[in-house]
Amino acid sequence: MKMLTNIWRLILFGFLCTVFPSMEPMRTGAIKLHRTQPTERISGSAGDVLDDDPVGRLKVFVYELPSKYNKKILQKDQRCLTHMFAAEIFMHRFLLSSAVRTLNPEEADWFYTPVYTTCDLTPNGLPLPFKSPRMMRSAIQLISSNWPYWNRSEGADHFFLVPHDFGACFHYQEEKAIERGILPLLQRATLVQTFGQRNHVCLKEGSITIPPYAPPQKMQAHLIDEKTPRSIFVYFRGLFYDVGNDPEGGYYARGARAAVWENFKDNPLFDVSTKHPTTYYEDMQRAIFCLCPLGWAPWSPRLVEAVIFGCIPVIIADDIVLPFADAIPWEEIGVFVDEKDVPNLDTILTSIPVEVILRKQRLLANPSMKQAMLFPQPAQPGDAFHQVLNGLARKLPHDRSMVYLKPGQKILNWTAGPIGDLKPW
Ligand SMILES: *[C@@H]1O[C@H](CO)[C@@H](O)[C@H](O)[C@H]1NC(C)=O
Ligand SMILES: *[C@@H]1O[C@H](CO)[C@@H](O)[C@H](O)[C@H]1NC(C)=O
Repeated sequence: MKMLTNIWRLILFGFLCTVFPSMEPMRTGAIKLHRTQPTERISGSAGDVLDDDPVGRLKVFVYELPSKYNKKILQKDQRCLTHMFAAEIFMHRFLLSSAVRTLNPEEADWFYTPVYTTCDLTPNGLPLPFKSPRMMRSAIQLISSNWPYWNRSEGADHFFLVPHDFGACFHYQEEKAIERGILPLLQRATLVQTFGQRNHVCLKEGSITIPPYAPPQKMQAHLIDEKTPRSIFVYFRGLFYDVGNDPEGGYYARGARAAVWENFKDNPLFDVSTKHPTTYYEDMQRAIFCLCPLGWAPWSPRLVEAVIFGCIPVIIADDIVLPFADAIPWEEIGVFVDEKDVPNLDTILTSIPVEVILRKQRLLANPSMKQAMLFPQPAQPGDAFHQVLNGLARKLPHDRSMVYLKPGQKILNWTAGPIGDLKPW
């Protein structure tokens, strides 16, 4: 019964706070994108890295490519601008006007190739990665023949945005993604990607894991009164099974989502369903815990939404590498549950002491935590763009003996990979 007492204390606390707002420390500034006074000192590297200003510590050269690699693709489908993979577009726009941009490639620390490989959507808005390898290959061929910088390092001082499910493995089914592996030509480059899982073929060392794109204005428009009590204990909306792609079950989400449904569909503490209500964002602001289970890939936009809406993310994705994990104290703001422990989710969550929950909520209320999850326009200090720059700055200076090749030295194999990928794009 101890756990129930905890829950009632929490809910009661929520109501008390509505009556006596001064008691409520955990909802300061929902998406206040401007830094107010610091809320709570965060242990570890977090506070410092989030606050770091990367401008002045690196210079980025942006290759100019024919518009068929970027702008034309976007013109064909404006939905790419609001998609969870839109970081590839906004990073480009950000860099064009950023203070870190240099027009002189000779002084650049990093080279960036603006190629929108994830803007090919089905009528339902699902991105098809089938053309991505050819497109990427073609862009690299172009920069390597028109400028001298690729060849001197074979891409080791170049970075690429590859926000697709499994990054530069360019497939949405994990098995196929693993079979493909990272595109051979990108094996020396730094990949900036949403996909992150330890010891996985599709995450190479030195990659920068970013949050998926979530539209800041849209989320802002759904903010509710910050004093609204959190009367939902656990909240989740999304698929439990993917019958179309995984008819037998067990493969999708490695069975973790199915286990949530089978164990808790009738549990009054769990507000879980496949129905996406129009009040989805509001509901997250009324919930204490928001489930963030893996789907096909370990990450999902729920992570970002949970942080923005101050709902403690319950991360169910073994070995996940979280966005900007060196800057954001995920262990402190979230709850991690092993996939195999999903059947005990009720006990796990109800046993968390109220003080721990309140502390997590206070940390989540820190505006810099939210800022780091967003790609706002225009960009703002400490936002996701700046966290990427921090990640790139921390990799400097380049180790010359590792990065630059000796004259005539070749490492990459231009003809490796499936034949279909080698066709011109
Ligand atoms: C870079 O190397 C490729 C392949 O070896 C070659 O075709 C290309 O001309 C080189 N680029 C420059 C600018 O020399
Ligand atoms: C490059 O890859 C192709 C296709 O896998 C292979 O046949 C070839 O031997 C490789 N070349 C080198 C130099 O490793």
